[in-house]
Amino acid sequence: MSSQILIAMDDLETAVRLNGAFEAAKFSTAMFSSLDDARGTVRRENPELVILTGAVHEPHVQQLAALAHDAEISTLALLEPTDSERAERVGRLRATEVMTKPVAPDDAVATARRLIDRRHLQERTGIVGESAPIQEVLVKIEQMAPVSSTVLVQGESGSGKELVAKGLHDLSPRRNGAFITVNCAALPETLLESELFGHEKGAFTGAAERRLGRFELADGGTIFLDEIGEIPLSTQVKLLRVLESRTFFRVGGTQPIKVDVRVVAATNRSLRDAVTLGEFRDDLYYRLNVLNIYLPPLRERRGDIPLLLRRFIREFAKTHERPFRGITPEAMQRLVNAPWPGNVRQLRNLVESMVVLAPGAEIRASDIPADVLEGAGTHSLRSGQALLPMRMQQQQPGRDVPVQELEFILRSLVDLRLQIEELRRRLDDHPQRVQVIELADHSAVADVMSENDRDGDQPVLYRPGMTMAEVERATIEAALKEYRGNRRRAAEVLGIGERTLYRKIKAYHLE
Ligand SMILES: Nc1ncnc2c1ncn2[C@@H]1O[C@H](COP(=O)(O)OP(=O)(O)OP(=O)(O)O)[C@@H](O)[C@H]1O
Ligand SMILES: [Mg+2]
Repeated sequence: MSSQILIAMDDLETAVRLNGAFEAAKFSTAMFSSLDDARGTVRRENPELVILTGAVHEPHVQQLAALAHDAEISTLALLEPTDSERAERVGRLRATEVMTKPVAPDDAVATARRLIDRRHLQERTGIVGESAPIQEVLVKIEQMAPVSSTVLVQGESGSGKELVAKGLHDLSPRRNGAFITVNCAALPETLLESELFGHEKGAFTGAAERRLGRFELADGGTIFLDEIGEIPLSTQVKLLRVLESRTFFRVGGTQPIKVDVRVVAATNRSLRDAVTLGEFRDDLYYRLNVLNIYLPPLRERRGDIPLLLRRFIREFAKTHERPFRGITPEAMQRLVNAPWPGNVRQLRNLVESMVVLAPGAEIRASDIPADVLEGAGTHSLRSGQALLPMRMQQQQPGRDVPVQELEFILRSLVDLRLQIEELRRRLDDHPQRVQVIELADHSAVADVMSENDRDGDQPVLYRPGMTMAEVERATIEAALKEYRGNRRRAAEVLGIGERTLYRKIKAYHLE
C-alpha cells in the first residue's frame, strides 16, 4: 500500500516521534532515508506529503525538496532554531511550509492535515498555483462554499473566475443541484430578462410556450452570473429584488415565484468604477459584494507560471499524444517574464499550440511566438486575429513553401481552432439568437456577431459631470464592445495606434 506521508529520517528522534503521532491520527506513513533512495521512494510511494525532519541546509535534502516540488507533492520542513540564522540557505529550500523545532506532534499533524486538504481542494477545483494570492483564494473558497451568501468574483479576463465559481458550487452542500451559467453580456435587455426569469406563453411576440428562466432551473443549486457589469440598469432593479427576497415574476407573469438559489457573480471590470460612472446601481453592488474573491492577474503572481506551464504541457502532451519532455530553462524564463494580458487562458492556449507545433520533444525559446513576449496576442477573440484567411489568399498553389511559412500556417490553424472554440462557447450563451452559423470564413461570423450587437441601444458616452478621461474610457469601452474586443479594429476606428489603445485599456482597467 502506498503511503500518504513520507517522513525523512535525517533527525531520527523527531521522525520516530512524528511517525507515531501520524499513525495515531490514522495516516498511513513510511520513514525513509533521504540520503539513500529518496527519488525511488518518492516515486514508488507517490505520497501526498513529504516531511523533512532536519539537515535542511544539506544539498541532498534541498534536492529532495526540489524533487517533491516538481512532482507537485507538498513538503513540510522542520527547521532547527538556528536555521533562521542560515536564512540564505534555508531560503533556497523549496518547502510548501516550514515549522521551527521543537514541534509539538499535534501541531505537525494539524499542519499536515491542512496541507493535504489544500492539495485535495486544488485537485477538485482544478485551480493550480502556490503563490500567496492563489492560496488565499483557495482558503476563501473553503470558507465560502458551505454557506449560501452571494459571492462576487472579480479579476481580469482569463484569470480563473469561472473555475472559482464552479469550485464554490462543487464544494457546497448544493453540489448535487444544478450549476447554471448566464453570460449577462451576451444577450440584449429583453432576452436577458426572459433568460433569467423565464416568460409566460404569449408574453411577447414569439413567446409561443411558457419557458422557465435560469433562476428556476438553478433552484436548489447555484446560478453563475458572468459579466455582471454588463447588465442593463432596468434588469439590475429586478435582480436586486431577487437577491433581497429570492422571488421574481416570469416575464408576462403575475404569480411570484420563490427559489432557493445561491448567486455567484463575476466581472472583469471594476464594479466600483461602474457605480461611479452611473452604470451600476450601488445598492445592487453592495448586495452582490457580501463576500468577494479577487483573482490577481497572472503578471502579479509570476511564481505560478512554471507550475501552470508544467501542468498544461503534461495535459496537452497527453491529449495530442505527443512524447513531450517539457520545456528548456531559457524558454521557461522568457515565459515567466512575458506580460500575459490574457492571463491563464492565454498561457493555456499558447501551451496547447506549442505542444502541437514545437518540432522537438521540448518547448524551446525559439518556439515562442514574438507577440506573446511583446504582450500583443491573447490567443482569444478579444485581441486575436484570424490571420489565416488573409495569408492563404496570398499563397499561390504549387509554389515552394518555406518551412517558416508552413509553421506559420500551422500555428494560425491552431489559433483559428481556439478562436472557433471560443466563438462556440459564446454562441452557446445565446442559443435563441443565432441558430445556424456557416463557418465559411471568419468575417462572416464577425458580421453576424456585430449585427447582433447593433440591436442593443447605443451606449451613452457623455453625461453631465463626466471628466475627459471618463469620456475617453467610455468611448474605448464602446468601441471594444462594438468590435467584440478586437483591439486592432477598435484602434483603427478610433484613429489611434494599437499600442496606444493597449496602453489605455490597461490604464482604464478595461481588460
Ligand atoms: N489557477 C488556474 N489553474 C489552472 N487553470 C486555470 C487557472 N486559472 C484559469 N485557468 C484556466 O484558464 C482558462 C480561463 O479561465 P476562466 O474561464 O475561469 O477565466 P475567466 O476569469 O472566467 O475569464 P473571462 O473573464 O474571460 O470569462 C480556463 O481554461 C481555466 O481552466
Ligand atoms: Mg469566464
